[in-house]
Amino acid sequence: MLIPKTLGAFLWHFIQKQKVSFGIILGCTSFWAINESFFPYFVKILVNKVESLDRFEPQLWLKLSGPIFLMVICWVVMEAAMQFQGYLTYKVLPRFRAAIRDEVFEYTRQHDHTFFANNFAGSIANKISDLPRASEEIILIFVYNLFSTTLAFLISLFILAQVNWYFAALLGGYYCLIVLATILFQPLIDKTSQAHAESVVRLNGQIVDILSNIISVRLFARGPYERKYLNPFQNEEILKSEKASFINELLNFVRRVLCLLFIGGMIGGLIYGWREGWVSIGDFSLITITSFNLLGMIWHMTYNMNQLFKEMGTIRAALSLVIQKHAITDFLGEKDLNISKGEIHFENVTFNYLKNTNLFKNQNLVIEAGQKVGLVGFSGSGKTTFVNLMLRFFELNEGRILIDGQDIAKVTQDSLRTHIAMIPQEPMLFHRTLLENIRYGRLDASDEEVLEAAKKAHCHEFIMKLEQGYETMVGERGIKLSGGQRQRIAIARAILKNAPILILDEATSALDSVTEKLIQASLKVLMKGRTTIVIAHRLSTLADMDRILVFKQGQIVEDGPQEELLKKEGHFAKLYALQSGGLLPEKAKSS
Ligand SMILES: Nc1ncnc2c1ncn2[C@@H]1O[C@H](COP(=O)(O)OP(=O)(O)O)[C@@H](O)[C@H]1O
Ligand SMILES: [Mg+2]
Repeated sequence: MLIPKTLGAFLWHFIQKQKVSFGIILGCTSFWAINESFFPYFVKILVNKVESLDRFEPQLWLKLSGPIFLMVICWVVMEAAMQFQGYLTYKVLPRFRAAIRDEVFEYTRQHDHTFFANNFAGSIANKISDLPRASEEIILIFVYNLFSTTLAFLISLFILAQVNWYFAALLGGYYCLIVLATILFQPLIDKTSQAHAESVVRLNGQIVDILSNIISVRLFARGPYERKYLNPFQNEEILKSEKASFINELLNFVRRVLCLLFIGGMIGGLIYGWREGWVSIGDFSLITITSFNLLGMIWHMTYNMNQLFKEMGTIRAALSLVIQKHAITDFLGEKDLNISKGEIHFENVTFNYLKNTNLFKNQNLVIEAGQKVGLVGFSGSGKTTFVNLMLRFFELNEGRILIDGQDIAKVTQDSLRTHIAMIPQEPMLFHRTLLENIRYGRLDASDEEVLEAAKKAHCHEFIMKLEQGYETMVGERGIKLSGGQRQRIAIARAILKNAPILILDEATSALDSVTEKLIQASLKVLMKGRTTIVIAHRLSTLADMDRILVFKQGQIVEDGPQEELLKKEGHFAKLYALQSGGLLPEKAKSS
């Protein structure tokens, strides 16, 4: 799916989905503009007529009925059109917003890991909600303001020119100058208001970050510190807001001066013209009503133009973040991954997160189908990265990873990930019920199947102790559960998913040793007949592995069965000696 990246194309992409309705809305607005500009003309006819009639004329009403009838018809048609427009607007706009939200969310979701690591979830969410709001605002300003005012202005100008060219020229000149001033100021307004918007985003991002770390804030009693921490962000917001407002007020000043000059020119001209005899009383009222009408409209219009530019800036900023190119995309003409055996082949793989620090360099490796492979190494040695590459969370710098002979970069990402069940190091849960969270592994699983998986993962025991059992909501990211409980939910999900390749990333690290033993039994069943990769934090879990890969500073330095590696007295033997209570140390004391 493609979303246009430039403002105009972006708006049009969503407008054209309901273009007939939007067209009718604009059409209805025209009635307002027509009424607004013709009304003073009817007043002029009425005034001139009244002036020409005798107060005691017996057929007064009949003689006045022409202009009065015109005024009433014009007004009624306008009100009917506006009513219809109101009805249409409330049908069209919510769908317009929903379409934007839907497509933008879907696009954002497909960004890669790095994108989400580099941007606060809060700011991304803000930008996603900015887009429909600002787009709607732009449409409203355009329909109710720019379009209608300009149309009313053009019609009025035309009528005015028929009556008197001097006042038409005066009004035309005023309109051009005020629009010109607004457009000239626009780059400055754009720049300052964008700077302000960015400072708000930064401030909000900080607030969200603090709130999501609220436990740390409490633990270290850092309430006052965090308040102070926000200070520079607050100050920046104030400063940027002042700058943006100052520019706005400067423009308002220019507009006020232009407005006063225009009113002076008009009143002066009217009195002069009346005295000279080229302005009738009817003209007088037509010109005054039209001018003051348009004066208000134009003032509002230019004010709204500022708002319009501001919203345009908001959209541009949101688009530049959210709609940037996907770093990882499905290969053109991609196929679905087809797994028959589950053989994994790293071919000449080179990868780094940052330039000039290679994690893997020309890595070659074959994991045979059904093999159970343990990964060990100090924390930070690249084990999680190794499996993330298999999941194509990051793009390789060089080389290929093949699963059953198919390059994972050339199959759809969804099909790749459907075939791999991964239990992550720190499982996150949705703020939904436990039942929904477990069923996430396979959406069409029956309640019985979910329960069975929960029992195998030893979740059932603790879930039944909760007041609402499987219907318990787990809190944001699963915060209401312990780390071990979350891990067990993740294991239940993987059991349900029943994928041919299984990856455990320290999947039982947060469990006590008794529960871990119980779960190991379930995991053993799960591993049967599947290619399995186990990142181990407890070397005892490696006993069942066919083979062990030893990681050191982003390289695989040893590879073989456990006994062989122990005999070799290399890095693995050193790790083995360093472990205490069956657990691997975080870091080597001397390396
Ligand atoms: N998203 C990331 N961006 C940049 N560097 C990363 C990222 N993830 C991990 N790293 C770095 O890559 C190295 C390997 O990390 P990782 O694979 O998580 O190690 P392990 O799982 O063995 O503890 C570490 O130095 C880590 O800081
Ligand atoms: Mg890790």
